Amino acid sequence: MRLSRFVWTLGLLLSLLSTSLAVKDICNAKPKDVPLEPMCVYRSPDEEPVNADAEPEKIPENTNPRVWELSKANSRFALSLFKQLAKGKPDESNIFMSPISISTAFAMTKLGACNDTLKEIMNVFEFDTIKEKTSDQVHFFFAKLNCRLYRKKDKTTELISANRLFGERSLSFNETYQNISELVYGAKLMPLNFKENPELSRVTINDWIANKTENRILDTLPKDSLGHSTMLVLVNTIYFKGQWKSKFNKENVFKADFHVSKSKTCPVSMMYQETKFRYGRFTEDKVQVLELPYRGDDITMVLILPLKDTTLPEVEEKLDMKKLTGWLHTMKETSVAVQLPRFRIEDSFSLKENLQAMGLKDLFSAKDASLPGILEDETNPLYISEAYHKAFLEVNEEGSEAAAVTAVVAVGRSFNVNREVFVANRPFLLFIREATINTMVFTGRVADPCER
Ligand SMILES: *[C@@H]1O[C@H](CO)[C@@H](O)[C@H](O)[C@H]1NC(C)=O
Ligand SMILES: *[C@@H]1O[C@H](CO)[C@@H](O)[C@H](O)[C@H]1NC(C)=O
Ligand SMILES: *[C@@H]1O[C@H](CO)[C@@H](O)[C@H](O)[C@H]1NC(C)=O
Ligand SMILES: *[C@@H]1O[C@H](CO)[C@@H](O)[C@H](O)[C@H]1NC(C)=O
Repeated sequence: MRLSRFVWTLGLLLSLLSTSLAVKDICNAKPKDVPLEPMCVYRSPDEEPVNADAEPEKIPENTNPRVWELSKANSRFALSLFKQLAKGKPDESNIFMSPISISTAFAMTKLGACNDTLKEIMNVFEFDTIKEKTSDQVHFFFAKLNCRLYRKKDKTTELISANRLFGERSLSFNETYQNISELVYGAKLMPLNFKENPELSRVTINDWIANKTENRILDTLPKDSLGHSTMLVLVNTIYFKGQWKSKFNKENVFKADFHVSKSKTCPVSMMYQETKFRYGRFTEDKVQVLELPYRGDDITMVLILPLKDTTLPEVEEKLDMKKLTGWLHTMKETSVAVQLPRFRIEDSFSLKENLQAMGLKDLFSAKDASLPGILEDETNPLYISEAYHKAFLEVNEEGSEAAAVTAVVAVGRSFNVNREVFVANRPFLLFIREATINTMVFTGRVADPCER
């Protein structure tokens, strides 16, 4: 039996500054219009999947309940993966990733998966928590979720996702698989010559990722990550640029110390503004939570800052979806004096070991993987040999030349006694989310925004 390697990768980018979106017909389709025929179907053994966030929530307007459930499943996966990553990193290191893009890429492998491989994908990505019993429908609702995320709401906001399959050119890939992944995920297959020239193929893929991320994500696939037996590389990229709805004035940027830990500080450029934002101070949970909207209001950055008498690891440990949604619901619009460092963080990691630790085992196993739906010739069993993720975030005061009214008050000159104060001069968490359905697009920890 010949074993085949299957590598996929994710390239990601996020920066703060501004465009186009192809309307896919899937966005207007009904389930019956879409010929979704994955090779295997998984049915959850539970009658009613236990919902982690116990209290019933109101489904947002104009939202398909299944899409909303899928979005919640993604958020739960996001927190689990975040905790898993935090375990493997020192408290002083940054973490940054796009959970929705990781879920999307693995949903593409799910299309061709059977047996325990399929079951583990359903469990780890929490797809089994959506009420629809049939797993084939997950792809349809994924497409709908993506339609919602990537539709344009403000011309200065740019959230673009691109998927692509790169396959060994001498193999025949199952046509149904290719057709569904193109329809649902927009992922066209590009044939490459891995067998004879893995290095050239690697460069081609990295160049494609660089192009889709405005050259912000380079060298995603490390040297020697592809070999002569590579058969398929699956890439998902996501790119976001947004302008603050209320920008930070360049004149209000000052040098300050960031407290990386009790014993270590470093210099940062601190941005300042005092504006009305959604804000909450939760003394029981020992956090301050602030939401900074991007123009268009649909995408926002949520910042979670531990109160002075606690540490970020303590907050992270207790964080769950119930808490997070509770905070987001209770926050109120109020005047806040915000200090936020200007920063740029980059993160890359192998997803393989983290997802294995979360229970995704068979997919990465040469012996146990079951992906019969991807290739036509089943004598070539596939497994995933590696999965890479790379992400980048840049936050600055920029990109808001036509921002909404901003009441910028110079540092130290404000006499507004009712204002709240939010000083991000120590490690904090951030989420970039689609606010109406609360989809986590990016998740991160900023522990070291230091200028070097
Ligand atoms: C391709 O996959 C579909 C279902 O996903 C299956 O019905 C079909 O038999 C496969 N084709 C080949 C040639 O294996
Ligand atoms: C895995 O799925 C395939 C295709 O559906 C089936 O033929 C095979 O018996 C299954 N193997 C196991 C171990 O369940
Ligand atoms: C895949 O799509 C092509 C082009 O739309 C079509 O001609 C072909 O019949 C489809 N194949 C399958 C197996 O659905
Ligand atoms: C990406 O490729 C397209 C088409 O080849 C080209 O027009 C565009 O300028 C490229 N973008 C970047 C950032 O290199």
